[in-house]
Amino acid sequence: MSDKINIVLLAAGKGTRLNIDIAKPLCPANGKTLVDYVIEELAEIEIEKKLYVVVGHKAENVETHICENFPNLDKKFILQKEQLGTGHAVKTFLDESPEAKDAEFTIVVCADTPLIKKNTYDQLINKIKNDDLQAVCATFKLANPTGYGRIVHADKGFKIIEEKDASDEIKKINEVNSGLYIFKTEHINSYINNLNKENNSNEYYLTDLVEPGLDVATLCYKDSLEFTGVNNLIQLEQIEKELRRRKLEELQLSGVRFINSDSVYIEQTVRIERECTIYPNVVLMGKTSIGQHSIIESGTTIKNSTVAANSIIKSNSYLEGAMVGERSAIGPMARLREGSVIGEACKIGNFVETKKVNFENGVKVSHLSYLGDADIGENTNIGCGFVTCNYDGANKHKTTIGKNSFIGSDCQVVAPIKIGSDAYIGSGSTINKDVPDGAFAIARERQTTKENMAKIFIKKKE
Ligand code: UD1
Ligand code: MG
Repeated sequence: MSDKINIVLLAAGKGTRLNIDIAKPLCPANGKTLVDYVIEELAEIEIEKKLYVVVGHKAENVETHICENFPNLDKKFILQKEQLGTGHAVKTFLDESPEAKDAEFTIVVCADTPLIKKNTYDQLINKIKNDDLQAVCATFKLANPTGYGRIVHADKGFKIIEEKDASDEIKKINEVNSGLYIFKTEHINSYINNLNKENNSNEYYLTDLVEPGLDVATLCYKDSLEFTGVNNLIQLEQIEKELRRRKLEELQLSGVRFINSDSVYIEQTVRIERECTIYPNVVLMGKTSIGQHSIIESGTTIKNSTVAANSIIKSNSYLEGAMVGERSAIGPMARLREGSVIGEACKIGNFVETKKVNFENGVKVSHLSYLGDADIGENTNIGCGFVTCNYDGANKHKTTIGKNSFIGSDCQVVAPIKIGSDAYIGSGSTINKDVPDGAFAIARERQTTKENMAKIFIKKKE
């Protein structure tokens, strides 16, 4: 008998009540999927373990996701072709994993309960060992227990009666089965073939592995939220709120200041360093990280982007796939699209859009401009209303501007084009030829002024 522990993750069910096309274990929750949270917490158990994932509905998707996200975990996928119940799922696992019988204990947990904490697994393991039991079931109490299996205690042991099989009297019991158990593997092995479908669901119930008279016990938890299962989108929202609360609390305790934490949406994958300030209505998603002392003002959305230390992203800006260097100021109302790499101490002002750009340190684009496919050298200043004309209808072309150059307001450059360093472009120019280092270029009509002629053009109201 090995000290290794089996973990059976039940993930084969259809999740019909969710009414969405995604397999339930892959249901998104605060930037990850439901099953990610379950596996991450299981992975923390400090005992050698092997994860057996019972898959069925959309098995391939579930398998691919788990392999991609947990490449280093010792795991095996068990295909339950027909979903004949939780008991059948565990029987399929055991039938197909003769090696599993070597492990003394087997934990069974569902893929749709993402809030269960590592401590709870530890407590169940300790209880089964210390009290030398055949099984321990995590239970909790609910004011409205509808839908859950009810716990009926006996002098020794207990049984679980499913909602569909319960009499009115049993339905009044408010201690319910969480769906998380630990068994002696030997106990599953000796009882699993006795399960039958003689119940109102016509399914093999895993819950029939416990019964009065056996050395089985419950561990009843006060916190029912921890065991909330996601069977519909109402429960998904409850779960996401709790996940977010935990994330925010963790950030706050690490020194991140939220002006109104109720109003922000921060995904699990986001990193924020200490002494940042996050204003209300901020959305931070995906692989986003915010460096120390930075400020994110209200109405801003940041996805898969990096903001280095001591920067400010002003109100109502939208960053996606961007990198912002230290001490830079972005917005208000700036849009940094995929591949925008902004150096240190840059300034990107209101109504500026960038895409696939590389700005060296100290670049300033303060107002109303579009820069796409462009490299801009250090300390170059770009005036108001600048456009890189990068698209010819078929292909995108590159703009390069050197360092310390000055681009006057209301200019367009027709790419592909190169403007050197220390160059000066007069405002109102459309530049379509390269400009060398140190040159001045202007491309607009000369001004004509005719004295006293304005009256011809000024119309008077009759
Ligand atoms: C189950 C328990 C119930 C408990 C509740 C807690 C049984 C018979 N009942 O009911 O006592 O209160 O969980 O949430 O176990 N699954 C498979 N293969 C199957 C059937 C289900 O892998 O053939 C998986 C599902 O994907 C899911 C889990 O098992 O992750 C639980 O199945 P579900 O149908 O949701 O059981 P409940 O009716 O919620
Ligand atoms: Mg369920």
